[in-house]
Amino acid sequence: MIDLARYRPLGPAEIQLPCADLAPSLDYFVGYLGFRIETIFPADDPTTASLSGHGLRLRLGPGRGDPGLIRLPCQTLPPEDERELIAPNGTRIMLVASDPAFAMPELAPEFLLSRAADAASGPGRAGMHYRDLIPRRLGGRYIASHITLPEGGPVADWVHFHKVHAQMIFCRKGWARLVYEDQGEPFLFSAGDCVLQPPLIRHRVLETSPGFEVVEVSSPALHETLADHDLALPTGRLDPARDFGGQIFRHSRAATTAWEVFGDTGFEVRPTGLSGPSAGQISVNVLRPAAKDHVAMAARNVELVLGFVLSGVASLACRGNHGLVGADAFVIPPGEPWGLNGGSSDLELLLVTAPA
Ligand SMILES: [Fe+2]
Repeated sequence: MIDLARYRPLGPAEIQLPCADLAPSLDYFVGYLGFRIETIFPADDPTTASLSGHGLRLRLGPGRGDPGLIRLPCQTLPPEDERELIAPNGTRIMLVASDPAFAMPELAPEFLLSRAADAASGPGRAGMHYRDLIPRRLGGRYIASHITLPEGGPVADWVHFHKVHAQMIFCRKGWARLVYEDQGEPFLFSAGDCVLQPPLIRHRVLETSPGFEVVEVSSPALHETLADHDLALPTGRLDPARDFGGQIFRHSRAATTAWEVFGDTGFEVRPTGLSGPSAGQISVNVLRPAAKDHVAMAARNVELVLGFVLSGVASLACRGNHGLVGADAFVIPPGEPWGLNGGSSDLELLLVTAPA
């Protein structure tokens, strides 16, 4: 490969689309689609034109190949069968929603066991390894991932945000330095901590320890991650009560949160307090055995019950008995009772629930 920088690319770059007969295509792109002519030649009988419009620059001219597909974001859309246009040169123009509202798919409940031992984890964004805890996504309503960064150090992340209804991250091991929009200076996110990422909050992972591990739960499963090239973090503002889509940011610290008696179950709970800040979208707790090594959980009217073994071992009682070890996860369908038996003294279970 040549060293491109040596040749100092100047731009604007153009996408070349083959066009055998310029005049009708020009009428269409300029007169109908709203592009404007930047250059055109030769003057006596034009065959080639550069056009700009809708944030795009095109070059129409003689040549072969695929006439291409242009996605044109629009504020509103015509009926579905009228969203694809075809220019005289064959270029397809697809009208798409400029800000697709994320429809929440119908819940498809299932009982699910995810074993750490037989999980494959693939590389994802910013060098992180993702293990998919809910492969079928409960119909698309939830995605849950066990994410690890084997090597510590600075993270190749950029200021970004997610179009979500609900999103939380729980730190299982190690630490990271995170920074969030209007939440002050970068802070340490340590093992046992949890953050609620309200919709659209800009954030960035700055660095992590080696072996940093988190469990991340988001809804809906399919959502967009967008870069914000214009905002620098930290913003210099501290506004912990700032409203982001009806929710507020929350960093729950394990070190300053006391264990509480978990009703009369014989277990203890360390609450993260995410339910209020998330406007009731998501609730996150850590459970551990105290007076008893077993706990029975009544059936509840919730749409998500996700358990993740942070440490120790236990047997899950739901549709049979299933031995669990560290990093194993399970999903209980709505309205089914479940329990844990034979929890080891070092058992800690992350429990994420979402109301129906
Ligand atoms: Fe993110």
